Amino acid sequence: MNKAEKVRLAKVGKKLNVKSYIKNEIAAIREQVGDKKVLLAMSGGVDSSVCAVLLHQAIGKNLTCVFVDHGCMRLNEAREVKKVFKGQFGINLIQVNAEARFLEKAKGITDPELKRKCIGGEFIRVFEEEARKLGRIEFLGQGTIYPDIVESGVGGHKAVKAHHNVGGLPKDIGFEGLVEPVKYLYKDEVRAVGKALGIPDFMVQRQPFPGPGLAVRCLGELTKEKLDILRKADFVFRDEMARAKLDRKAQQFFAIMTNVKSVGVKNGARTFGYVIAIRAISTSQFVKAGVVELPFKFVTSVAEKIATTVKGVNRVVWDITPKPPATIEWE
Ligand code: XMP
Repeated sequence: MNKAEKVRLAKVGKKLNVKSYIKNEIAAIREQVGDKKVLLAMSGGVDSSVCAVLLHQAIGKNLTCVFVDHGCMRLNEAREVKKVFKGQFGINLIQVNAEARFLEKAKGITDPELKRKCIGGEFIRVFEEEARKLGRIEFLGQGTIYPDIVESGVGGHKAVKAHHNVGGLPKDIGFEGLVEPVKYLYKDEVRAVGKALGIPDFMVQRQPFPGPGLAVRCLGELTKEKLDILRKADFVFRDEMARAKLDRKAQQFFAIMTNVKSVGVKNGARTFGYVIAIRAISTSQFVKAGVVELPFKFVTSVAEKIATTVKGVNRVVWDITPKPPATIEWE
């Protein structure tokens, strides 16, 4: 075990002191990486965002971030990431639009685990291609956090899902090693570190978003049509939650494309549209989660708004299942 890993492991089970964590982690990254280069997978989520800024503070221009748009991102996500990390922080950021490539690869796959593995595998291949274009890059940075490790079956724990940032990594990845600056932190701790690093509030407070993105919220085969519908419905729900100031009550809230179609009526005519589900959960460590008791009036108004304004949707259901027995994501 290298010195940097020892520094990170020393944190496990202890209360986080944000200031000293940042100081130690920057030193640990420098110790691990030296003057070599790091390529970081940025997903737009809190974890990889915090990693990007930590790495940037530690090694500056030797960090290159790659944001792969796999076609399963939320509405406006790519634009926001560019604005903050390239614009505000001056981080070396490359955005790759790989939507068509991912959808082609995932064609016909309906099994949740196969979908995750397909996306995870393709994700790494896109990185390798980008890395090759950039010349020699020795390290791969990743925003792995502690619950990811626990739930992916590492360290004697039983696997729940193949998280693409832990389980899906091919052996022949072509990098000398991994740099995982927030590996032993829980989500709330990652946020505290992000805030102290000066990442804007709307990003630090942003709910976690899984690596495979909307792919784990779009049941059945991934198609552009279904993903576009989901993106719009998800935006309406998140926007309404923020307007009603209910976003503070939930750690995660999002829409799900159920892949089920049902009959409805619009302007006196029969419709046959998708059923969208909405889910809002509260949790501290994401290992267990409760359902947020949203006001019923709010839920019905959101349902009506989604079903009337998002083309292709005519019914909305509310997921009221805690974790366990359900997981937070649907796949
Ligand atoms: P589940 O669905 O397992 O989710 O209850 C627990 C937390 O992990 C997030 N999640 C992921 N995060 N890559 C990630 O980086 C993944 O593959 C992944 N799958 C689930 C999920 O959003 C929740 O916060």
